[in-house]
Amino acid sequence: MILFISLIQDGKAQESPKAVVTIKPDKHVFRGETVTLRCEIQGGGEAEWTYSWYINDYKLYRKHKIQEFSLRSVKNEASGNYTCRGRRSSDTQGSEISDAVTLTVSDVAEAVVSVSPLSWLTEGDSVTLSCEVKHSSTGWIFSWYTFVSYRDSQGFIRYRALLLSDSSRGSGGSYTLSPVTLNHTGVYVCRAERGVFHTRYSKLQPLWITGESPPVSLIISPSRTQYFTADSLSLSCGDQSNSTGWTVRRYRYSEELFNCSSVSGSTCNISSLSTSDIGVYWCQSESGGRSNPVNITVHNGAVILDSPVHPVTEGHPLTLRCLSHSKKIPDSGVDFYKDDSILQSQTTGEMTINSVSKSDEGFCHCKHPERGESLKSWVSVRGPLQASSSVLRLISSLVTVSVYLLLTIVVAVKCFRARVETDEDNTQNAVIED
Ligand SMILES: *[C@@H]1O[C@H](CO)[C@@H](O)[C@H](O)[C@H]1NC(C)=O
Ligand SMILES: *[C@@H]1O[C@H](CO)[C@@H](O)[C@H](O)[C@H]1NC(C)=O
Ligand SMILES: *[C@@H]1O[C@H](CO)[C@@H](O)[C@H](O)[C@H]1NC(C)=O
Repeated sequence: MILFISLIQDGKAQESPKAVVTIKPDKHVFRGETVTLRCEIQGGGEAEWTYSWYINDYKLYRKHKIQEFSLRSVKNEASGNYTCRGRRSSDTQGSEISDAVTLTVSDVAEAVVSVSPLSWLTEGDSVTLSCEVKHSSTGWIFSWYTFVSYRDSQGFIRYRALLLSDSSRGSGGSYTLSPVTLNHTGVYVCRAERGVFHTRYSKLQPLWITGESPPVSLIISPSRTQYFTADSLSLSCGDQSNSTGWTVRRYRYSEELFNCSSVSGSTCNISSLSTSDIGVYWCQSESGGRSNPVNITVHNGAVILDSPVHPVTEGHPLTLRCLSHSKKIPDSGVDFYKDDSILQSQTTGEMTINSVSKSDEGFCHCKHPERGESLKSWVSVRGPLQASSSVLRLISSLVTVSVYLLLTIVVAVKCFRARVETDEDNTQNAVIED
């Protein structure tokens, strides 16, 4: 039986060896790449072969009477079904024709960047940026860049992608930052390379990191995160006594990165806000330091929420206000919401939580009975500072120790009295003593 099968296989191989087409780097390539096609004769042995090539069943030029050829800088027209057939030079014996392999040439190679789990992070978290090429996964090497500003010869501020010094860590397509620090705040892009070919840059992927003790604070006046259109706004870095080298940066959700303050100053004044100013603002020093970022929203409507710009410490009070564009309508019957469930209703346009806890963190908004709803803003609560929490822990352990000591003394005194007042074989007291 075994002999019989192997005879058949041998017979077949001798009858008609089969041609197989292979394509490198991939069956799906992009305009401008170099593609190599190769014809292998399976079971062709040591014999010498010549090859015929077909695209969509039409014979290719004679020059392709070779086993392998490359298409340099391919165009879309090169797309198609490729087949090949071999012919043994010694006896003109033909191979079976290969199965068709489809080459697809696409116009633009797009690198797509994504972030997991979130782009808003707290110092110490982990985050992974991922990059992939749309419709293609074979043979790519990824590079990671951050967007930096520089001054051109006329003194204008321009932006360019700067290769991250540790970009090779993410060459497989994922670049992990663990733990993230304040200085990771910024805008990232990726690009993929295959041979000498590379994709375009991906879209901008920002990362925002909030920390406990940033070297400088972004000071916002008036101090809110929501504004009406046409409001004016002033942003500056730090307490102004030492703000040298700091500039206010902004990232608009329309995917633009800007210096908001002038080249020399650390103040950014916007005299009439519009919805195009919606974005994230932060301070950055020439040496790379960062403040905490602030998400600023501009609303076309008649109601905005006034909530804290910076994280509120646990145990501190939190006040939310609902502001109307027109003061003529009384601020009564206002409802406040957190994550779409009602927090307080029928207020006079203001509510306070006396001692805030982590569970109060969330997206808040307010609703006026006549004037409508505000947009949502993230209200951030951070744990008590490390120093004070260790003091608390010390105090609580001291209390525990003293309570224990006190109990021991009480028990000891009781036992002593018991021994004095009763017979030695009074087992009742012996039990209490335990
Ligand atoms: C301000 O900060 C810079 C850089 O951190 C430092 O070199 C300088 O001494 C500081 N100046 C003052 C007045 O604190
Ligand atoms: C920005 O506005 C603030 C407050 O309105 C003002 O004190 C400051 O001089 C202005 N700065 C610039 C650079 O215009
Ligand atoms: C920041 O603002 C954008 C646009 O207004 C919004 O989609 C996003 O949820 C906000 N994120 C945080 C953390 O506030």
